[in-house]
Amino acid sequence: MVKAMTESGTVTGERAVARCDVLGKPPFSDENDLLFRPWLGPGFIATVEAISNWMRQAGMTVRQDAAANLIGRYEGSTPDAPALLFGSHLDSVRDGGRYDGMLGVITALEVVAGFHERGERFPFAIEIVGFGDEEGSRFPITMLTTRSIAGVLEEDDPVAAFAELHDVDGITVEQALARVGLTPRGMAAAKRRKDSVLAYVEAHIEQGPVLEAEGRALGVVSGIAAQRRFEIRLHGMAGHAGTMAMSLRRDALTAASEMVLAIERIGVAGGDRDGLVATVGSLRTWPGVTNVVPGDVTFTIDARAGTIATRDRAMNDILAALKDIAERRGIEIEIIPREDLDPSPCDPRLMALMETAVQDVTGEPARVLVSGAGHDAMIMARLAPMSMLFIRCEKGISHNPAEAVLPADVGEAVTALTRFVRLFADDYSQTQGRHSA
Ligand code: GLV
Ligand code: MN
Ligand code: MN
Repeated sequence: MVKAMTESGTVTGERAVARCDVLGKPPFSDENDLLFRPWLGPGFIATVEAISNWMRQAGMTVRQDAAANLIGRYEGSTPDAPALLFGSHLDSVRDGGRYDGMLGVITALEVVAGFHERGERFPFAIEIVGFGDEEGSRFPITMLTTRSIAGVLEEDDPVAAFAELHDVDGITVEQALARVGLTPRGMAAAKRRKDSVLAYVEAHIEQGPVLEAEGRALGVVSGIAAQRRFEIRLHGMAGHAGTMAMSLRRDALTAASEMVLAIERIGVAGGDRDGLVATVGSLRTWPGVTNVVPGDVTFTIDARAGTIATRDRAMNDILAALKDIAERRGIEIEIIPREDLDPSPCDPRLMALMETAVQDVTGEPARVLVSGAGHDAMIMARLAPMSMLFIRCEKGISHNPAEAVLPADVGEAVTALTRFVRLFADDYSQTQGRHSA
């Protein structure tokens, strides 16, 4: 029996969650026992294939651009109309959850499937973009694919680093792209003309506890926090664990340990200031064996805050502390900037439409909240007005296999996004009318 698509979103919510669950396992994950879907890996390629099929079933034409982003297009009432873009990322962190990123793509797919089933068209096209590398879980830099579409790849200049940046297996960005017939310089061809994109909308799990605590299924994002990331390389001296006197050691790992605690201390001290957070998420020692004093350590720093000033004050304190510790311990330190993202406010006009859509669906004024997590929307805001919808997730857990959402919430999100498109269409027609009057 073919189930009817309902405006209430119950069926679509269940299907959306089921699709994310299917994509959480091999062949859509590169690991058997956990979800890991890095950009351009086998799981990523299988995922693109599966979603392409669902897009075609929803009446969309499908292509991959010069950065391997997956793009489905549902035509408007006239050919070649500019597009309202929906999107989020297809990649995951290692041992990640099934909904981070993926749910934004799959809910948008349900919205379009509903329009297709009802034969509903708009004066603009609707496109869904599955971005490749929001997480940066393969290479030590994020959102190259998003930057390509937004047309800021060369402006941000990560291309220069493509030959050097590599994954844990030593494969460079350049080599990974070559395997799918693409080149670093060629990625810039994915750039969208500003007049071909009306707006960018991203639905995402909240990845925080606010909506659940307040008993709400949905929230409207007002802006995304600023981020900075660094890679720190420490060079001490490797030596025999049995013979090297403690007083003579230049142990890169004990230096790193002191540094990690300093980063935590600075983060905690400013913790309530503008949502400041500071994290060391990855640390590798070399040679990494029991009977050798560690000679080299590489670790990452990820710092975020609601304002650039707070983030940068904390980062300056952190870097000063790291240099002091390195000097005192006779350790050479390299500080390599990896990411610098300004805070991204959401577009006020789109936010107002999203708030109306959420209120119409939930029957209460929308909860507006800031996103501490980064999103493709941060980069897309440089191309077009941007808006985000948050969906409640269990206990606010994310970047963790325990990530969970309620199908009913997801159904409400699909209904709210559907309502948003119709409100956007009214607004667009009025603006066009004013322009042509
Ligand atoms: C992406 O999930 C990020 O906020 O790091
Ligand atoms: Mn995400
Ligand atoms: Mn994430």
